[in-house]
Amino acid sequence: MTAVFESALKQSIETTRHNLKALEEFPESFQQGAWKPIEKERAAGHWVDGFWAGLLWLAYAHTGDPSLRAGAEHWTNKLAHLKTNSGTHDLGFIFYLSHVIAGRLTGDEAWFDNAMIAAHTLTKRFNPRGEYLQAWDDDGIRKWAGRSNIDLMMNLALLYWASELTGDAEPADIATQHARTSRLALVRGDGSTAHVADFDPDSGLLIRREQYQGYSHDSCWSRGQAWALYGFATCYRHTRIPAFLKTAQATADYTIRHLPADLVPFWDYNSPHIPDTYRDSSAAAVTACGLLELAALDAENASRWMETAERILVSLCENYLIRNAGGPSSLLRDGARSVPANLMEHGLIYGDYYFLEALTAFTRPDIYRRALDVQIVPVGASE
Ligand code: GLY
Repeated sequence: MTAVFESALKQSIETTRHNLKALEEFPESFQQGAWKPIEKERAAGHWVDGFWAGLLWLAYAHTGDPSLRAGAEHWTNKLAHLKTNSGTHDLGFIFYLSHVIAGRLTGDEAWFDNAMIAAHTLTKRFNPRGEYLQAWDDDGIRKWAGRSNIDLMMNLALLYWASELTGDAEPADIATQHARTSRLALVRGDGSTAHVADFDPDSGLLIRREQYQGYSHDSCWSRGQAWALYGFATCYRHTRIPAFLKTAQATADYTIRHLPADLVPFWDYNSPHIPDTYRDSSAAAVTACGLLELAALDAENASRWMETAERILVSLCENYLIRNAGGPSSLLRDGARSVPANLMEHGLIYGDYYFLEALTAFTRPDIYRRALDVQIVPVGASE
């Protein structure tokens, strides 16, 4: 597969150069020839902003090109002001992929300073009664203090990183308590996941599970499933708590059982409209990355996880990668931000970031290891 991945990498870097010249705002979705930023009226609207910076850092690491580095520095610096913003649960996405990766790839630990402040800001969203991190804030219409979501699992890496760097156990303890709660509240017995857990914020008791971006309250939104797979694998890497490995394995198994023939999920694994409904290429890219991390931790099953990740990535390269755009473009087509909100059939910056992360794992495991601190397992290595 080396040639397929090398060619996709070349294309991805060419498109990234076009985007760097053209973009004036952090991008979210690409449709009809143009990038659109995400709406920023709520703090959570910034959640996508780290992906563009992270993508630039990986592109710089592949090329050594000073203009890509200058771009990565510029867009990373534009995020720094969010470090004390306690109104978003996505400081992990935002700072891990920008500032933490920047520090690791450049060796300049000054980048870590803002990420450390962001990690401590994120801990302020912890509800000790329910032992969960709060997802959203009140918006004048609804009270949100009791709601947490599966996406939050991907923000825990920043908390573990902060504890490992300083020796202060608090951020990691909060991450572990949150992951335990999410496992009980959001992961079902068959390895599928719900999107949102609604707790009583005073007693901490779970009231109900909900699905805001999936098909129905008992269905399985495919990108949420991918956040769970990747997030629980990361928690296991940092804690070695067996329940987290089991949960990552169960979510991976469910995913593999429900992937369609081309291995790129529909937006919800249980949509009754399959196959006449929308794909989410971003869910495929996140799933591939989650399987890669799981393979690095689970020697017994590593070949299965690696081979599936590789086959998903081949399918993205062959069927979803936009080639020869000749100007600004997403890397992948056919993402689905939220089908219930009528936002689909577009490129998504998070799909693009995780696509490049997975390509990096297969083409330059040395860069992948430096950026993500994960040692890739060659297929067949565990046998
Ligand atoms: N974190 C929101 C999403 O995955 O759409």
